[in-house]
Amino acid sequence: MTGNAQELWTPACRADPRPLYARMRQEARVVRLVEPIQQMPFWLVSRYADVVPLMRDGRLAKDPRKLGEQGRSRFLRFTHEGLARHMLNADPPDHTRLRALVSQAFTPRRVEALRSRVTTLATGLLEAAIARGSVDFIDAFAFPLPVIVIAELLGLPPEDRHPFRDWTRALLVPPADGDPEPVMAASQSFVRYFTTLLERRRTAPGDDLVSAMLAAEEQGDRLRPDELIGMLFLLLVAGHETTVNLLGSGLLALLEHPEQLERLRAERGLMDSAVQELLRYCSPVEMSTARFTVEPTEVCGQVIPAEEMVLAGLMSANHDPEVFAEPERLDVGRTPNKHVALGFGIHYCLGAPLARLEAAVAFELLLERAPRVRLAVAPERLEWRKSAVIRGLEQLPVTFA
Ligand code: HEM
Repeated sequence: MTGNAQELWTPACRADPRPLYARMRQEARVVRLVEPIQQMPFWLVSRYADVVPLMRDGRLAKDPRKLGEQGRSRFLRFTHEGLARHMLNADPPDHTRLRALVSQAFTPRRVEALRSRVTTLATGLLEAAIARGSVDFIDAFAFPLPVIVIAELLGLPPEDRHPFRDWTRALLVPPADGDPEPVMAASQSFVRYFTTLLERRRTAPGDDLVSAMLAAEEQGDRLRPDELIGMLFLLLVAGHETTVNLLGSGLLALLEHPEQLERLRAERGLMDSAVQELLRYCSPVEMSTARFTVEPTEVCGQVIPAEEMVLAGLMSANHDPEVFAEPERLDVGRTPNKHVALGFGIHYCLGAPLARLEAAVAFELLLERAPRVRLAVAPERLEWRKSAVIRGLEQLPVTFA
């Protein structure tokens, strides 16, 4: 590639990675990169036409246990064993079994039933934010809303929520010096927390997902104890670190495109399509999670050695002009809109209906109750998170006056 693909992690590229992805798509179907903090090498596929088949390529594994000793320890160096046994790290038949255990809780119908609770929570948060005049939208709204919703769904006591943010942060953005210690400490905290919670729920079951999963575990071979903890961990982290960025980056995108905001205000029927477009445009999960080669495997015309990681460039695919007309244009009425922001294939986002509901409720309320919401700082001063996997703003200062 001309230029340096490693620039993916520079602040300028974090602020806007689209020019780099445009170059990648033009020059190579797959590039090898080294993640600078953990020094983890991986292959990145950037074109939409390659990303979709990659996400359902059965030759690649999700389960790190399929790797040899060396590959496994390289990949799991920053992952606590006690949290690693979840569906996003599993292939069929384990994946099918694990996903089936919780999929009923996330069907569009079950999620729709949460609309009024989500609206009540979102209204409370937004009113409190408006009363303060100006706030960091991430801290005051975009972060707490999805966290409270997933915590309620799982049945976690409200007083327990406080430390989760620091733990998930430590896990997803390891320290710049590559020291695995804080990651392991945060993982230990999660394992300890879940173990105690499960003990409590075992003696006093409630009407929540944790109790339902415990019942499945007690029925025998359906869910093992480490899988139960892995499941809770995955749902909690997915509920923490993704929707927050759809809400934050989505609001920024609308504020930067006032004509689209006005169009949405005038045509509320466009809300579902606007949420899809914000998913595409913002791509809160910039790259997929890892898939592994178990043996040397040809991917996009390149033979990738065994035990290497291959990632799908979701944001890159979502801005591929071969598929999306004028991809850099935000168009709240875009149809068709076959974005891959929520993945593709058997690992397609389980929480998709919930994420879309939360975003639709949030943007409806913002249109209704905060018609004068605007950025409180110049856009160039906004800071983006350093991760090239989770794409989101550190803060989003706004004023409501
Ligand atoms: C805007 C918000 C969200 C985005 C952009 C998003 C994105 C994604 C993506 C791209 C994947 C596939 C990853 C891959 O194949 O490598 C995925 C999987 C998953 N997501 Fe989400 N997600 C969001 C919200 C949520 C929420 C709220 C939940 C929790 C309830 C959730 C739970 C999951 C789970 C459990 C999987 C794994 C599914 C499987 O392995 O079968 N997600 N998500």
